[in-house]
Amino acid sequence: MTLDVTVLTLFPEMFPGALGHSILGTALDKKLWTLNTVDIRTFAEDKHKTVDDTCFGGGPGMVLRPDIVDKALTAVMERGKARLLHLTPRGRVFNQGMAQELAASPLPLVFMCGRYEGIDQRVLEAWDAEDVSLGDFVLTGGEVATMTMLEAIVRLIPGVLGDETSLEEESFAQGLLEYPQYTRPREWHGREVPEILLSGHHKNIAAWRQKEAEAITQERRPDLWDRYSNKQPNPLT
Ligand code: ADE
Repeated sequence: MTLDVTVLTLFPEMFPGALGHSILGTALDKKLWTLNTVDIRTFAEDKHKTVDDTCFGGGPGMVLRPDIVDKALTAVMERGKARLLHLTPRGRVFNQGMAQELAASPLPLVFMCGRYEGIDQRVLEAWDAEDVSLGDFVLTGGEVATMTMLEAIVRLIPGVLGDETSLEEESFAQGLLEYPQYTRPREWHGREVPEILLSGHHKNIAAWRQKEAEAITQERRPDLWDRYSNKQPNPLT
């Protein structure tokens, strides 16, 4: 299976960036996923290559013009049906469950990155774009949000990570944060590795890890803990 990804951006040179390194870069080389960028500016029509204009209603900042964005989207969507995601702090907040869903997408993924004050609403509606946010903070554009989401998505594509079982243990997989990890040396600056982890007793180790995962989730993420302890479906998967 190959996940086909296209990014519409004013800064195509930002890609693949971090996505071209390490495990995700190897997966790109192996064609487990593909990455195309489309430079929105190439669809500008005047000699200054203008893509934005001031916003109606007044206020600071510039808005990406619907006619230019439409031409860029037409060029991309001509290749066939795709899932169109628009990066914006106004969107549904991305989580592990969405990463899983998008990693298994039968359709190509198209990420539309805004800059400045955003993109004219009409073109987003006309193309039925799904608004997605990285979190409750404001970035200067959608590019880093796209990269972060792709980090989370691509590693879930079968074959990208060597050891598939580690996916079941990691944070959010069971609706809990992950237990702490330790390696050699057994003692470091007077700090010992928890004795139980050296016991070789797999059942006790699993029980200890479960207890640690529950304790840290309870302490740091009361929202996740509430859902977990009430046995509601895991919102993150
Ligand atoms: N663009 C600007 N801020 C963003 C955010 N929080 N998430 C996604 N895209 C954004």
